[in-house]
Amino acid sequence: MIKPIVAGNWKMNKKINEALELVNNLKKIVGNITEVDIIVCPPYTALHSVSSVLKNTNIEMGAQNCYLKESGAFTGEISPQMLIDVGCTWTILGHSERRQYFNETDTFLNQKLKYVLTTGLKVMFCVGETLEEREENLTESVLRRQILEGLRDLQPSDLCKVVIAYEPVWAIGTGKNATPEQAQEAHAFIRALIKKEFGEDAGKNLPIQYGGSVKPENAKELISQEDVNGFLVGGASLNAESFAQIIKACIP
Ligand code: 13P
Repeated sequence: MIKPIVAGNWKMNKKINEALELVNNLKKIVGNITEVDIIVCPPYTALHSVSSVLKNTNIEMGAQNCYLKESGAFTGEISPQMLIDVGCTWTILGHSERRQYFNETDTFLNQKLKYVLTTGLKVMFCVGETLEEREENLTESVLRRQILEGLRDLQPSDLCKVVIAYEPVWAIGTGKNATPEQAQEAHAFIRALIKKEFGEDAGKNLPIQYGGSVKPENAKELISQEDVNGFLVGGASLNAESFAQIIKACIP
């Protein structure tokens, strides 16, 4: 049985005061939940403040992205070591917004993923097809490419530090979530692919999150699918009450 894992991707939202209010409220509501792994991913500017509130709690902190060097002349970038220093245990990589607006390719993401895993940071690695790709029946070939190229050269043992987030691009921020059946179909495909490439155990134990318009109203139905092991939540994670309801829906 895979422990459910629910992460909030705040994207480019929340100034420091707002971030503090959100995590303080969250701590009050879900601070005693141990049945679900809980992660918040604030913007870089709020990491330090949020970290001080989350110290010694059950809520972990992640970044939304990072670079593939420890330090140096890379203006505007942040290293995994800096993220660990500020209190992160996770980072997201390969979010569709990074792929779409910042031209992050499968090859570049593979380099980042391999580097990040050497630092001890755990990774939520995002994949997902666009509406156009789905309508052209390309969902599986897109997922296969993003996973095989993104996870190229990883060892089966690396997979214990990786979670895959299936985030269909057409469901992100649109209010239109994948149906439980659509999510299950994609998740089962991803798990089978991981088993084939990295072995039965790696596939069986891999948590696969769903992301895309997850709300308190649809969380229960989605998490009840066999291969849905948690969520990567955008909009609904910006409010402590709605994020907490999603977390509670995942308690087995
Ligand atoms: P929404 O939950 O706002 O659709 O965003 C999903 C997402 O992109 C999480 O990474």
